[in-house]
Amino acid sequence: MMAEKPAASPASRWSPETRSPETWSPETWRARPIWQAPVYPDRERLAAVEGRLSHYPPLVFAGEARRLRAVLGEAAAGRAFVLQGGDCAESFADFTANVIRDTFRVLLQMAVVLTFGARVPVVKLGRMAGQYAKPRSSDTETQGDMTLPSYRGDNINGAEFTPAARIPDPARMEAGYFQSAGTLNLLRAFASGGYADLHQVHRWNLDFVERSPLAARYRDLAARIDETLGFMAACGMTSATTPQIHETDFYTSHEALLLPYEQALTRIDSTTGEWYACSAHFLWIGDRTRQPDGAHVEFLRGVKNPIGLKIGPSMAPDELVRLVETLNPEGVPGRLTLISRMGAEKVAAKLPPLLRAVQSAGIPVLWVCDPMHGNTTTTAAHVKTRSFDAILAEVRGFFDAHQAEGSRAGGMHVEMTGQNVTECIGGAHQLTEADLGVRYETFCDPRLNAGQSLELAFLLAAELQARRAGLDPAPAVAAQ
Ligand code: PEP
Ligand code: CO
Repeated sequence: MMAEKPAASPASRWSPETRSPETWSPETWRARPIWQAPVYPDRERLAAVEGRLSHYPPLVFAGEARRLRAVLGEAAAGRAFVLQGGDCAESFADFTANVIRDTFRVLLQMAVVLTFGARVPVVKLGRMAGQYAKPRSSDTETQGDMTLPSYRGDNINGAEFTPAARIPDPARMEAGYFQSAGTLNLLRAFASGGYADLHQVHRWNLDFVERSPLAARYRDLAARIDETLGFMAACGMTSATTPQIHETDFYTSHEALLLPYEQALTRIDSTTGEWYACSAHFLWIGDRTRQPDGAHVEFLRGVKNPIGLKIGPSMAPDELVRLVETLNPEGVPGRLTLISRMGAEKVAAKLPPLLRAVQSAGIPVLWVCDPMHGNTTTTAAHVKTRSFDAILAEVRGFFDAHQAEGSRAGGMHVEMTGQNVTECIGGAHQLTEADLGVRYETFCDPRLNAGQSLELAFLLAAELQARRAGLDPAPAVAAQ
C-alpha cells in the first residue's frame, strides 16, 4: 500500500531554475519523487476529501505564523529559547479535554521553569493539533504469521492489526482536520482565557507529580514566582494591566508528511498575497523525507510559514547547505529551524561539521535539539524505549558543540505527555525496563512522562544558566 521508494525518477527534473519562486505552486510537489506516501486505493474518495478540505476554514491565520517566525528569529539571535513538545503521534482516541489540558500544562510548567530559571523568554510550540501522520522505518509489520501494511498515523490508517484498519482511508484526513480544530480551539482558550495566568502556576502541578521528588522544587519555584508577582502588583503591574501575566502565546506544529492534506489547507494570505500552509503555525520535514529533490522539500519551500528540518546523523554538510539554500533562499531570520537528532553517541562527531557548513553559508537558521529520535532503543522484550540519561547526554553534547563552534543553541524538541506513562527509563523515579509494562500507551515512539519532562526542564534551565555565566555546566547541574 505504501510507496517507500520514489514514485518518479529522481533528480532528472531538477535544476536550479526549476526551484525559483515563480515555478512553485501548492501542487508542484506532485511531480517530484515522494517517500513515505500512502497509496489510497479509492482515488475518487481521495479527490472528494481534498476538494472539501480545500474549502474549509484555515486552522491558523497567516499573521500568527508571521509572529511565530519573528519570535523564532529572536531565538536564533539568542534572545529567546524554543520549547517544542508533545506526542510522537496524537491519536484520535485520546481526543479529550483532559489529555489536551495535561500536555498543555506540562509544557507551561517546563516553560516557566526555563523562563524563571534561565531568565529567557520561552517560545511555546506544541507538537499538537495535527501531529497525526507518521513516517515508518518499515512498510510492513508482522505479527505471528500475518504481515500487514504498517500503521502510518491516525490521519492515514488505523493502528489495529487487521487488514481493513491498515488500508489508507481518505476520510481520516477530514477527521484529522476536525480534531485539530477542536484541539486548537481548546489550546487557544487555555492560552488566553486565564488558565495560563502566572497566578495559576501552583495549580499546573499534576497530582502524580505532586508525589514525585520534583514536587518540592516546583513548589519552591512557584512560591518565588508568587512573590515576584506580589512585588510587581505593588508596583502597578497586574493581570489587568499586563497581558503577559494573564495570557501566553501558544503555537502548533506537526510533521508535514501527508501532502494531499497540507496542500488542501494551503491558502493565499489576503494581506500579503503569499502562500501559507494553514494546518498549523509551524511545519517540519522529517529525517526520512528530506531528499533535496523530493516532494516534501518542494512543498515546504514555497509556503511562507516558519518551517523545520530534522537532521539525523546521515546528513552530509554539503547536502545540508543545499537544503538550507532551497528552504531559506532569502535568509529570513526565523524562517528555518534545523532540528538536530543525532543520538547521544554521535552528536559530538556529527554536529560540529554541520554547524560550520551552515555558518559559512551565511544563511541564518535556528538550531534546536531533538534528544529523542537518535536515542531510541529496543529492550530484550522488544519494547521501544529511551533512556533519560541518553536524552540528557545528547542535550549536553548539543550545547557543547554550539559552544565550541561559536553557534547558538536555540531550543529543544521533545516527545512528552502530561500522562503518567512509563515509556522512557530513568529520571527521578528511576523507571526501569521492568516498569515499562505498567503504562506503555504510546501509538508510536516512547514519550517522557510529566515528571521526566519537568525534570528535564530543571536540568536544562541549570545548563542554560551555567553556560550564560561562563561556568562549567557539568558540576553546576550535578549540584542540583
Ligand atoms: C518524529 O519527530 O516523530 C520523527 C519521526 O522524527 P524524525 O523524522 O527525526 O525521525
Ligand atoms: Co517520534
